[in-house]
Amino acid sequence: MTDHATQPAPSDGQTPVLEAIAAIRVIPVLTIHEASVAGDVGAALKAGGLPCAEVTLRTPAGLQAIRAMASDPDMLVGAGTVLVAGQVEEAVAAGARFIVSPGFDRDVVEACRRAGVPIIPGVATATEIQAALRVGITVVKLFPAEAIGGVRILEALGAPFPGLRFIPTGGITPENATSYLEQPAVLAVGGSWIAPSSLVHAGRFDEITRRAREATMLAQGR
Ligand code: 3PG
Repeated sequence: MTDHATQPAPSDGQTPVLEAIAAIRVIPVLTIHEASVAGDVGAALKAGGLPCAEVTLRTPAGLQAIRAMASDPDMLVGAGTVLVAGQVEEAVAAGARFIVSPGFDRDVVEACRRAGVPIIPGVATATEIQAALRVGITVVKLFPAEAIGGVRILEALGAPFPGLRFIPTGGITPENATSYLEQPAVLAVGGSWIAPSSLVHAGRFDEITRRAREATMLAQGR
């Protein structure tokens, strides 16, 4: 049987999508309960300079929200909280251009390879990083970044894996984002603070744009 997951990634992490994430540097993580607001949220993020979102599949509306947001060709939309391989195809069919999982799962990685979409698996230990490296992963989500030790664990885990790039997520705020973004191993940071469900469902799109603009400044080191 062919072991897809042990094959190198087709573009070895240098896909245009990962390059776009590296340029944007802050990924808003969204949990949407009503897909009807997704287009407005995407527009609010874009207006603030962040044409990107990871829409989690934690709600029944997740896939439809991806579909609505991804209908704007300027928006780079990924699916988050992808836990099983079967979700990958659905997410890609809905328009997801990258897949994020909270942990490392070989079946999910294989499904992403088959679908031709970048996978950013979550890791919290050196053992998980080694498992990810073994199947050709070059970008991982450090999750939950703040809870497991923040910048200190990032530095400690980064040292033995010099080629690896991290997207710390979990507990990132406007106050601590810069301390992560300054680390050379950090490709981008992710977080829900830009468009939390409370703002999304209160229709506070102006505030989402303001937070996106603030995050854009942080991403640019300003
Ligand atoms: C995720 O799924 O990446 C996290 O829930 C985002 O973490 P945060 O809510 O602490 O930003």
